[in-house]
Amino acid sequence: MARTIKDQTVEELGGDGSVLARQRREHAEMDRLMDRYQRLTDSEEQARLLKEIVQLVFSHAFAEETVLWPAVRCSVPDGEELTARVEQEHQQINDLTSEIERLDPQDPRRDEMVRRVFALIRQDIRDEEDELLPRLQDALNPAGLRRLGAAWEAVRRSAPTRPHPAVPRRPPGNALLGIPLSGYDRARDALGASTGSTAGRRRAAVVLGLLAAASAVVTVVVRGVRVTRRR
Ligand SMILES: [Fe+2]
Ligand SMILES: [Fe+2]
Repeated sequence: MARTIKDQTVEELGGDGSVLARQRREHAEMDRLMDRYQRLTDSEEQARLLKEIVQLVFSHAFAEETVLWPAVRCSVPDGEELTARVEQEHQQINDLTSEIERLDPQDPRRDEMVRRVFALIRQDIRDEEDELLPRLQDALNPAGLRRLGAAWEAVRRSAPTRPHPAVPRRPPGNALLGIPLSGYDRARDALGASTGSTAGRRRAAVVLGLLAAASAVVTVVVRGVRVTRRR
């Protein structure tokens, strides 16, 4: 009988490396960071912390869409319906976060939009821990949960770290379009922290320009392949 993974012991979840234990640990970290954000009053500190939350949430969700939800669809009878719901939540989180990123930091709508995106992230966590992941727990043995945990972790470590609403939520489109963007996102994250000087900023702009061009080329090629296949 499926029951929430929220209150189970790590042993019941299949051990430390199980996908269930890994998911719950990261959800707790997201929750902790969102709580901390809501206690901050300094807008610069809020902006720094929001960036950290976005990196954590988007790499986590991309790896779910790439390895976890396809596994749920293969092994859980109503997996299609369950994963469609969380994919819709992920899409809303993508749309809203990219809107927030386009806003001026002083825009009065920003606080309300951040509150809405945090509420969506919390809803997504509840749907996963209370419904979707318990069903996966019923379908797989502990060794299977650990193998899936290792696959999810490997993808998460090289996943995009920013919202990309135009990238499809399902494989193969998400992997084909998302993985090239991952290099671009991670370069932006790394360079963002070390571009204090004018020369540093210029170097960063050149590197990012090259990576953006490479991502665009891959996107065009992949779209071309998809259009050709549809004919
Ligand atoms: Fe999750
Ligand atoms: Fe999720």
